[in-house]
Amino acid sequence: MSVYTTPSGEISVASLHRMKRDGRPIAAMTAYDASFGRLLDDAGMDVVLVGDSLGMVIQGRDTTLPVTIDDMIYHAKAVRRGVRRALLMVDMPFMSFATPEDALANAGRLMKEAGAQMVKLEGGAAQVATVRRLNECGIPVCAHLGLKPQSVHKIGGYRVQGRDESSARAMLEDALALEAAGADVVLLECVPRALAREIGSNLGVPVIGIGSGGDCDGQILVLHDAIGVTPRPPRFARDFLAATGGIAEAMESYVEAVRERRFPGVEQTIE
Ligand code: KIV
Repeated sequence: MSVYTTPSGEISVASLHRMKRDGRPIAAMTAYDASFGRLLDDAGMDVVLVGDSLGMVIQGRDTTLPVTIDDMIYHAKAVRRGVRRALLMVDMPFMSFATPEDALANAGRLMKEAGAQMVKLEGGAAQVATVRRLNECGIPVCAHLGLKPQSVHKIGGYRVQGRDESSARAMLEDALALEAAGADVVLLECVPRALAREIGSNLGVPVIGIGSGGDCDGQILVLHDAIGVTPRPPRFARDFLAATGGIAEAMESYVEAVRERRFPGVEQTIE
């Protein structure tokens, strides 16, 4: 048992908040099945995310938009069987949280049927009412800001967000509003390092980054980008398998690199 786990040895929302307070970086990774869930858990991952990235890396689609709530439940149930210690976060897919009522019904399914301990949804100020409603019902929420892949057609591609002053200010305001509404974690995707640092220092809840520099309270990667499976991985990813030669060792080396703030390095950082 550690100071960061519950008496039964699990990572909880309170554990993540304590890690932020203590400056202990949070290590997170995506998984889509029981075998990898167990492997990530054994490697000491704090958070395992069943991401809607499964639409692309598992189903071979061009975007995450076609992923359904039933797809998420199917994969989350499988991952749940492998994960004992880490906190299990599950993505709410496109259009599953278009209204607070839809969000409540679908988040409830992820918790009840799949065993999710936190749901993640993409969106800024427009999701404040939804986050508040989920929070009132005791559903932990991670708010995903920055590059929101479910909005790819609206933003015109997968690109860095928050580069100019007004969009940076809007993102900080969104993060503060979502925290005030009850978000327990904020995830920042593809945000310049300085902006991610500013958002993290203004929030009491942990900020987990992907492609957002090394000053976040934690890091997350898509599993396939971290083990050399993605044909053209994003610049902010690193192939941990290439350096270690074994999947379990690769995941342990990722957790260690995150904890020691050796990942992301300069080559993976967007300034
Ligand atoms: O779906 C996913 O894998 C994500 C990543 C950005 C972590 O949301």
